[in-house]
Amino acid sequence: MQDIVLLEAVHKVYKMGEVAVTALNGISLTVKKGEFVAIMGASGSGKSTLMNILGCLDSPSQGKYYLEEIEVSNFSKNELAEIRNRKLGFVFQNFNLLSRTTVLENIELPLIYGKQLSKPDTDRVHQIIRTLGLEEYQKHYPNQLSGGQQQRVAIARAIANNPTLLLADEPTGNLDSVTSTEVMKVLCDLNCNMGITILLVTHENDIARYARRVIILKDGKVLSDTPSKSSTTPASQALCETTS
Ligand SMILES: Nc1ncnc2c1ncn2[C@@H]1O[C@H](COP(=O)(O)OP(=O)(O)O)[C@@H](O)[C@H]1O
Ligand SMILES: [Mg+2]
Repeated sequence: MQDIVLLEAVHKVYKMGEVAVTALNGISLTVKKGEFVAIMGASGSGKSTLMNILGCLDSPSQGKYYLEEIEVSNFSKNELAEIRNRKLGFVFQNFNLLSRTTVLENIELPLIYGKQLSKPDTDRVHQIIRTLGLEEYQKHYPNQLSGGQQQRVAIARAIANNPTLLLADEPTGNLDSVTSTEVMKVLCDLNCNMGITILLVTHENDIARYARRVIILKDGKVLSDTPSKSSTTPASQALCETTS
C-alpha cells in the first residue's frame, strides 16, 4: 500500500539565541493509507514538533519528509500552505471554530480557502453533516453547542476537503470521558468506513487504545512503535465490526 507519510531521519533544532534545543533527534517512520496511529510520550518529548512537521506547519532542520511521495521538507512557506489546504485536515484541543460563523459556514470554510471549488460542493458537505449527526445544528453558532458537538463540527470541517491525512492534537483534551468516547467513536468510524488516515496525539491510554498503532516518543526519538495495546481487539476494530 502507498505510504502517506515517509519520514527519513528527521531532526528539528530550535535555536534560541546561543542555545539550541533538539526537539526531534532522528525520526524515521512510515504511515500507510488507512492507518490510525496514536502518538504518545511525556511532555517535551517532541509530539507537537512532530505534528507541526507532519502538518506542513514547519519544516525539518535535517532529514526528509515525503507526503504522498512528494518531498515537502524543502518547501517554502507558500508551498507548505498550499499542500496543507489540499491534503491535510486538523482537529485541535480547543476546537478552533469561528465563533460568529454558523456551523454550516465553519464546515464549508476550508473548501472556499482551498479554492478547490468556487462554490462549496453542497452534496459532500451535507453528507458529512449527516455522517456527524449535525443536521439540526447547521444554523447554530458554536457557543450554542456542547463541547462534544463543537468537536464534531471541527472534525466535519477537517474532512470537508477530503484530506489525505487527518491530524488531531489532543482532540479530547477538553472533553469529559463520556464525550471523549463519543468523539473517538466518530474518528474510528471515519477511519473504518471512509478510509481516512488518522494521526492523533494523546497522553491518555484510554484514548490511544482506539488507534491500531501506538508510537511513543522520548527525547525526540521513537522509543517504541507497536500495535495498539488492545491489539487483539483494538477499540477501533471492535467498533468497525459493529458498524460495518
Ligand atoms: N518554538 C520552540 N522554540 C524553542 N524550543 C521549543 C519550541 N517548541 C518546542 N521546543 C522544545 O522542544 C522540545 C519538544 O517540545 P514539544 O514538541 O512541544 O514536545 P511535546 O509536544 O511532546 O510536549 C521541548 O524541549 C521544548 O521545550
Ligand atoms: Mg505538545
